Amino acid sequence: LNPSGRGVWRYSSLLPRPRNKITLGEGCTPLIRMGRDLLLKFEGANPTGSFKDRGMTVGVSIAKEAGASSLVVASTGNTAASAAAYGAAAGLEVKVALPDGHVAMGKLAQAIIHGATILKVRGGFDEALNYVLAREVGRSYPLNSFNPWRLEGQKTIALEVIEEAKVDNIIVPVGNAGNIYAIWKGYVEAMEAGLTDSIPRLIGVQAEGASPIASAWIMGREEPIPVIPETVASAIRIGKPVNWFRAWRAVKAAGGEFITVSDEEIINAQKALAKMGIFVELASASTYAAYLRLASDLSGSTVLIATGHGLKDPDAAAKYEMHIIEV
Ligand code: F0G
Repeated sequence: LNPSGRGVWRYSSLLPRPRNKITLGEGCTPLIRMGRDLLLKFEGANPTGSFKDRGMTVGVSIAKEAGASSLVVASTGNTAASAAAYGAAAGLEVKVALPDGHVAMGKLAQAIIHGATILKVRGGFDEALNYVLAREVGRSYPLNSFNPWRLEGQKTIALEVIEEAKVDNIIVPVGNAGNIYAIWKGYVEAMEAGLTDSIPRLIGVQAEGASPIASAWIMGREEPIPVIPETVASAIRIGKPVNWFRAWRAVKAAGGEFITVSDEEIINAQKALAKMGIFVELASASTYAAYLRLASDLSGSTVLIATGHGLKDPDAAAKYEMHIIEV
């Protein structure tokens, strides 16, 4: 550990070491106690409002050091927002391939204000990623979660949790399936470094309408069932997750599981969290929905990884009943 460091770069001995770090103060997010055995890691407290910043500080630092002049990502929104901000901080050009009509307003606003060029893709995230792989890689430095440096940064979620609490279960929303793998990698390396003596059960949640991995897991198949994804949780509206194999292996090794929750359960979970003062986006609320479903099966303490801030998607909140008094 780097005792003088704070956030992601506190763990620099387990990270690549670029000479110049592009940092906006990511990591060191609150771990909120919700009950005796339930905690929530509020990744919405990162500089751009999602866990993506942990990966982006490492990925963009490396890209800059490698001499890249432009960055590219496909995104459901948060990766785009984070790449736009860190790219701006590094003085690099940023291109973001976004599924037309399926990106939450807050995320789009971030891409715009930080000056990213928006590549408008007809279709969903899967088509956007295909476009980037076919046409942009080679011209610009790609920072999707197949980029290993991104996942190096994201593994610091695990390293922080290890310092903060002894945990038996970790529940993570799964889209492209990079983050759950990154968290597992963080635990494995921490164990090798003698920082912890056990790995929690990792539980990956997908929305019912976008569950290529969880459906396969539940049906006992050994590979994902590609789907045309549909869910209110636009951040995890992904039908062909690129990191599925690594995520699958990690969850298996951790004695965990993948489960699905319905859009209705996700919406109710978002409302229930908001009643406790915690505003997370719908994809993140899926972790609480999963917890409510599993509660009687879970033993010991559980951490929900609340991946993104609720303000990312103001339209989702505006759909709830308003208490207005005209005065
Ligand atoms: N939660 C949020 C808020 C996300 O934005 C994402 C992914 C995930 C969970 C799932 O993480 O893909 O590593 O399994 N968002 C990506 C994006 C796809 O483009 O912002 P994953």
